[in-house]
Amino acid sequence: MPTAKFDLLPSANPTADAIRNDILSNPGFGRYFSDHMVHVRWTVDAGWHGHEVRPYGPLTLDPASAVLHYGQEIFEGIKAYRHADGSVWTFRPEKNAERFRRSARRLALPELDDETFVESLRALLAQDHDWVPTPSGEADECSLYLRPFMVASEAFLGVRPSHEVDYYVIASPAAAYFKGGVAPVSIWLSSNYKRAAPGGTGYAKCGGNYAASLAAQKEAEAQGCGQVAFLDAAENKWIEELGGMNLFFVYHDGRLVTPKLTGTILEGVTRDSVLELARDEGLQPEERHISIDEWREGAASGDITEVFACGTAAVITPVGELVGEDERIRCTEGDNPVARQLRSKLLDLQYGRSEDKHGWLTRLV
Ligand code: COI
Repeated sequence: MPTAKFDLLPSANPTADAIRNDILSNPGFGRYFSDHMVHVRWTVDAGWHGHEVRPYGPLTLDPASAVLHYGQEIFEGIKAYRHADGSVWTFRPEKNAERFRRSARRLALPELDDETFVESLRALLAQDHDWVPTPSGEADECSLYLRPFMVASEAFLGVRPSHEVDYYVIASPAAAYFKGGVAPVSIWLSSNYKRAAPGGTGYAKCGGNYAASLAAQKEAEAQGCGQVAFLDAAENKWIEELGGMNLFFVYHDGRLVTPKLTGTILEGVTRDSVLELARDEGLQPEERHISIDEWREGAASGDITEVFACGTAAVITPVGELVGEDERIRCTEGDNPVARQLRSKLLDLQYGRSEDKHGWLTRLV
């Protein structure tokens, strides 16, 4: 398939350099957006068409658009990193493109081919590369967070897959996802809510999964926790993931365990990369079921020495404590050396400070 060409409609009012630089000096997460966005339209009759990069701005959606009523929507999260020579790169975009197609199939949305997905990131960055922050040092994880998403836009209240769909990519300069940076976060163990059930949409990156996590996230915040951990829906026993991140457990003997993908867990790109990097570091990664009792007992006996969360937004963030209705489980010993080591390896790769042995980087600009 020939690579799609994106028409350019440049912004008439791009952000002034001084204002953009001010934003880039303290972007937070998800608060500011670059000057342009990608748009591609899909209809049953014409397929994908109208590829364009246009000024960032509000969408016009018919109030009857299917996405507003039935949540037919998917998204991705991927970052653009500035290297020391000024070039801009992204990390394993083919994994996000593949997951986006998998999510589309589950939500009965049309699949966007991988080449167009990657080209859409390149087309946006060709305009908005000045929005990619320059890291101030090796601990700085600033980047331009890219958010591709697809919504059902047909105005029709019947419940069936939409005949009209729109794909967009927006970009937001980002610092650390958690306010404390790499400081350990506390996690709330949800006993009232489940995120996903067998046969449901757990493995898809769709808005509905995140919407389902919000009441639990609200409980977490009321308990002073930064994220929420979910157990499986069938047995209320197996650890699945956090509201927006995967989990890893470090054992004293070098085992690194993460919950096995069973269809209810998001297949994180960072999760997969950590599994690979762990092998390079001489750890023994295991993907298997891990129960909440194993977590409790392992933390109490010292068998589990660290727990960390990972995701595109969170990178690798140590978990300090698991908080439940009647319990508090300390999760870390010392300074989280394994999480810190894996995090440095990952960031060094993403920012071009170490050799890309796995061939994970793709140049955007
Ligand atoms: C990401 O890590 O990219 C996500 O989509 C998760 C969300 C917490 C921002």
